[in-house]
Amino acid sequence: MTTPSSAPSTLAALVHCACHEQGGGGPFDPLRLRKDFPILTLTVHKDKTLAYLDNAATTQKPASVVCVLCEYYQACNANVHRSLHYLAEQATLRFEEARRKVQRFIGAPSERSVIFTRGTTEGINLVAQAWGRRNLKPNDEVVLTGMEHHSNLVPWQLVAKETGAKLKFVPVLDDGALDLDAYGRLLKGRVRLAAFTHISNVLGTVNPVKQMTAMAHAAGALVLVDAAQSVPNRPVNVADIDCDFLAFSGHKMLGPTGIGVLYGRLEILERMEPFLAGGEMINRVTLEESTWADLPQKFEAGTPHVSGAIGLGVAVDYLQRVGMETIRAYDEHLARSMIARLDAIPGVRVFGRAPERGGAVSFEVEGVHPHDLAQFCDKDGIAIRAGHLCAQPLMQRFGVPAVSRASVYFYNVEEELDRLVQSILKAKAFFHGA
Ligand code: ALA
Repeated sequence: MTTPSSAPSTLAALVHCACHEQGGGGPFDPLRLRKDFPILTLTVHKDKTLAYLDNAATTQKPASVVCVLCEYYQACNANVHRSLHYLAEQATLRFEEARRKVQRFIGAPSERSVIFTRGTTEGINLVAQAWGRRNLKPNDEVVLTGMEHHSNLVPWQLVAKETGAKLKFVPVLDDGALDLDAYGRLLKGRVRLAAFTHISNVLGTVNPVKQMTAMAHAAGALVLVDAAQSVPNRPVNVADIDCDFLAFSGHKMLGPTGIGVLYGRLEILERMEPFLAGGEMINRVTLEESTWADLPQKFEAGTPHVSGAIGLGVAVDYLQRVGMETIRAYDEHLARSMIARLDAIPGVRVFGRAPERGGAVSFEVEGVHPHDLAQFCDKDGIAIRAGHLCAQPLMQRFGVPAVSRASVYFYNVEEELDRLVQSILKAKAFFHGA
């Protein structure tokens, strides 16, 4: 992989926006950081100040990320790794700079092990198709958990059907933690891969991924971590976890939609055949056959989401200025504060009491359908999510068709949680006719 090394674009400087240094400076202060997110000042439904509590679905974007997209298209737009003209060199430089930012952010040993994808779902499908279809044999086993998002379940169902491999599931305990004894027992089978979420998008449970990875490796299995909910909210280091694959999405960590990352262990990626095929991922092509480009391009067929990757790089800059440990601690504090408020409301049941948690809190309000509650909150300007949260087996495990979920990020404040409680109380009174 070659990258040009010339100076930053003077064209880019023409439209350079002053917001590039947002996020830093002084002690952590959510009220100050909120100013970097213009959307958080919106009023909705005429006069309701937005309280955005749907961050597990997607986060809002600071102006620095929004501006870099605009700047890129106005002053730098070109295809990457192809043309030799000035703009193409600038675009390639910035695209590859974004890859190195991500590499450092997740502690990957090489930028070649960082593959840009459309998001977590594509990253997991890449592993399922390019590794799973080729390596799984009849009666081989893939260990998943009962708390997986559909994106870390359905791709394996497809591959299992095709290869004859079997899927096994680690049960979820009543408090929302995984049954690690059962996991240990499952690893005694013909397990080739363990694939599990780092943080549940429903329960908020933080799984002990380092320990689970070591257990899988001791059993001779590879490990894939779905880090969609963890990379945005805490320090995540792939070398420390020692996983073989780790997937996450840019849009859940201040970045644009349509960009994500799959980290893979180099020697495994080297041995894998491509996932998608076409331009960019080849070395030599004849009418009969082709050879593949080096990593990471082998897995990046077609024109990549250049602006998305650059935007993700700026999002990473922002997150690092705030500090990932600071974000982890604050999200956990707000989530616990929310749970305390919810516990004080009669008829509210919170799902997920595991000792370590992220910012997503799911709950049900007796006698109020989650969709009705979400609409009720929305009328008050409060954005929450309701439904099966792309985790239907987990809903079945807890005996509910759907839940409501409020999920916080570092720009949320306690006052927004108070507003949520007021809305829930109003909804209860309305639907119970009290
Ligand atoms: N996976 C996202 C969520 O949980 C969409 O809301």
